[in-house]
Amino acid sequence: MTDHHPIRITDTLTLAGNLFLAPLAGYTDPPFRRLCIRGGADFTYTEMVSVEGLARKGEKTIALLPRAKDEKEYAIQLFLSKPASLRAALAIVKEHRPTMIDINAGCPVPKVTGTGAGSALMKNPPLIEEIVRIVKEETGIPTSVKFRIGWDHESRNYLEFADAAIAGGADLLTLHARTRSQGYAPFAQWDCLTTLKIHLEKKGSTVPLIGSGDLFEAEDAVRMLRETKVDGVMFARGAVGNPMIFNQTKALLRGEEKPLLSANDKVVLLLTHLHALAEHYDEPTACTLMRKFIGGYLKGIPHAAKVKQAAVRVLTIKAYEDALRHLALPEDRNDRLGPLRLSHPYESLISVNSSNTL
Ligand SMILES: Cc1cc2nc3c(=O)[nH]c(=O)nc-3n(C[C@H](O)[C@H](O)[C@H](O)COP(=O)(O)O)c2cc1C
Repeated sequence: MTDHHPIRITDTLTLAGNLFLAPLAGYTDPPFRRLCIRGGADFTYTEMVSVEGLARKGEKTIALLPRAKDEKEYAIQLFLSKPASLRAALAIVKEHRPTMIDINAGCPVPKVTGTGAGSALMKNPPLIEEIVRIVKEETGIPTSVKFRIGWDHESRNYLEFADAAIAGGADLLTLHARTRSQGYAPFAQWDCLTTLKIHLEKKGSTVPLIGSGDLFEAEDAVRMLRETKVDGVMFARGAVGNPMIFNQTKALLRGEEKPLLSANDKVVLLLTHLHALAEHYDEPTACTLMRKFIGGYLKGIPHAAKVKQAAVRVLTIKAYEDALRHLALPEDRNDRLGPLRLSHPYESLISVNSSNTL
């Protein structure tokens, strides 16, 4: 179905829509997830959380688990290599009542794969079956798996791996259409999404398939839905700096024009995000974390380099606002960008109810 539609996961769980925000380590913390939900994300994931860290009751690890404000449904993503610590970790996970528990079988980072976790799990399909089975037995919470095409080009085993996850009881699958050895390099192989979808249908499986890989614009998501027939799409890097990409996609899927963001809209979004970060952490931490996002928000805005340079130093929201004012109101650009409207609360711009206005 090439449209915006709910996704049935189990008899008791149907997700409101099929536009997901990916787990992104270092990015998808509660403030960013909150912004993406305001921007139309139907389902969101925490960053990947270490099972070993949870079993050790590591404070920093446990801090990754809570849901964001306004986040009615979300998945906690776990990474692990061996089931030994899983039960202890799940006891903590359960306290947060996530809608879904997702197992990471895609991370390519050597520090993670070196322990046998992330995409290294793909080398051992029976292990994913065992892990999914334990999660479901222990929690009764719907469980999903996010994986890649395979470890490398020579060992593309995504069909077998999907079968193993389903044998363990997986309720949803997400395929990042690259091998581990491809990292994040262009181009994702969307034909593998088509192949897996057909494979699942042939087996009579109703487990929904979500597609990931190279979704940088709303148009990419529409194309992935049309070309591959996946049930839903998962935005990752495309949402960084544009949390409105979900509502933009919804508009396109309704056959409407894509609502575009003005330079002012982008600056207001950046500041909304900054305020949300400050509320969740503290002001200096918020300003430091914003450095990762600022390039995304200011992409395409003339003379943004100066603000990005300033952002490396500033530790207060006031200093950010001053730097941004400078950006949006240079005397010679007044006519092109219009006056910067900085008003609190910024939330008004991204009201949840205004699905077609940004
Ligand atoms: C900085 C960064 C962090 C990521 N962290 C995670 C993670 O914690 N868990 C996960 O399953 N995938 C993670 N991914 C992979 C994304 O979820 C997604 O599958 C991938 O980026 C492909 O989508 P894209 O090409 O549209 O960005 C990460 C990707 C990036 C770039």
